[in-house]
Amino acid sequence: MKSKIYYTKPSITEKEVEYATDAARNGWGEHCYAYIGRFEDLFKRHLNVKYAIATSSCTGALHMGMAALGIGPGDEVILADTNWVATVAPVIHLGAKPIFVDILPDTWCIDPFQVEQAITPNTKAIIAVHIYGNLCEMDELIAIGERHGIPIVEDAAEAVGSVYHDKRAGSIGKFGTFSFHGTKTITTGEGGMFVTNDPVLYNHVLSLSNHGRAQVQSKQFWADMIGFKYKISNIQAAIGCAQLERIDELISKKRTIFNLYKNGLSGLPLQLNPEKKGTINGFWMPTVVFDQEAGITRGQLIDAFSQEHIDARVFFWPLSSLDMFKANESNHNAWDIPNRSINLPSYHDLSIMDIDRITKVLGDIQRS
Ligand SMILES: Cc1ncc(COP(=O)(O)O)c(C=O)c1O
Repeated sequence: MKSKIYYTKPSITEKEVEYATDAARNGWGEHCYAYIGRFEDLFKRHLNVKYAIATSSCTGALHMGMAALGIGPGDEVILADTNWVATVAPVIHLGAKPIFVDILPDTWCIDPFQVEQAITPNTKAIIAVHIYGNLCEMDELIAIGERHGIPIVEDAAEAVGSVYHDKRAGSIGKFGTFSFHGTKTITTGEGGMFVTNDPVLYNHVLSLSNHGRAQVQSKQFWADMIGFKYKISNIQAAIGCAQLERIDELISKKRTIFNLYKNGLSGLPLQLNPEKKGTINGFWMPTVVFDQEAGITRGQLIDAFSQEHIDARVFFWPLSSLDMFKANESNHNAWDIPNRSINLPSYHDLSIMDIDRITKVLGDIQRS
C-alpha cells in the first residue's frame, strides 16, 4: 500500500528539542519567562513591529485585541464570509455582530468594495484575513478604514512569510495576530502572537493578557479590570525560538513546494494561490480552484485523493453557511469557489515524489 501523505506536519529538528529540553530543565523560577521574552523579541524583529505579546493561540490574541478596541454588544465587525470559524468566534464572545461579505475571485480574500458597502454607524472594526497566505488588498482597506474612522485588524494566522509592498503581513493594520498551531509554517504546538505599533493598545492588551493587572500596579494579586488568561508557556516559546531561528529556511521551503506544484499543474484548467505585483506569498497552503467550465467538484477531488492515501482538506465553507448564522448566498464567490477546490499538502519534508503523486491525481481527474 502507498504511504499516506498528510496535508501538513511540523519540521522539528534537534534545535527545537534542545531548546524545549532546556526550558523543561531550567526554565523555572527566575527563568520562567526567559524563552517567552526571546520569542517575542525574535518575532518583533522578523516582522519589524514595535510590540509583540505571545499568546496561547491566535484566537486568544484576536479576542484580546478586539476587547481592547472596546468592541461589544451593539457593534458590528466586517469580515470575509470565507474563513476559519476562529476569526468570528471572538466577535461573538464579545457580544458583537459579524457582517460577512464576499471575497475576491482571485485572492479569495475580503472584497474591499463589499466592505465599504457594508459599513454602518455601528461598524467598529474590519478584519482582513490573509487566507492561505494570500494577501488582502491592504492599501484599499486602510484607505476605507481612514475614510470612515474604522480600524483594520489583520488576522495573519496563515500568513507568516507573506509580504505586502515591503511590509510583512500582520504589521500593517491597527494590530495583527498569528497562529503557531501544529499545522502552521512556524509552530509551538499551540500558540499565537499579538503584534502592534500602537503603545496604548499594546499596554491595554498586556494588562488584559495578565488577568487585568496593569503594568504599573505594584499591589500583589490586584486586578485592575477583568482580563484573560491566554498566555503561552515557556516550553512552547522555547520551541518557537528554535523555529524563528529557522524561519527563512521554513518559508523558503513553502515557496519551493508551491513552485513545484505550479510547474506540475501548468496547463490544467485551474487557479492556484496568486502572487500579485508588489507582494510575496508565504504560500502556507497551496490551493487549487478548478475553473467552472472544467466541471470538477469537491466530492470528486476528495474521492480521488483518498483513493491515493492523500489527505484531502476542503476549502473553507462560507461562515454564513454554518447553522448558527443566517445563510447569505449572495456572497457568490464565497459560496461557489469551495465547490470546485481543494487544499494541497505542504510541509517541510514533503518530497518531490510526493508532489508528483499529488499532481498526477489532479491531472488524471482532469482526463477521466
Ligand atoms: C485564519 C485563521 N484565523 C485564526 C486561526 C486560529 O488560530 P489558533 O488555532 O492559533 O487559535 C486560524 C487557525 O487555524 C486561522 O487559520
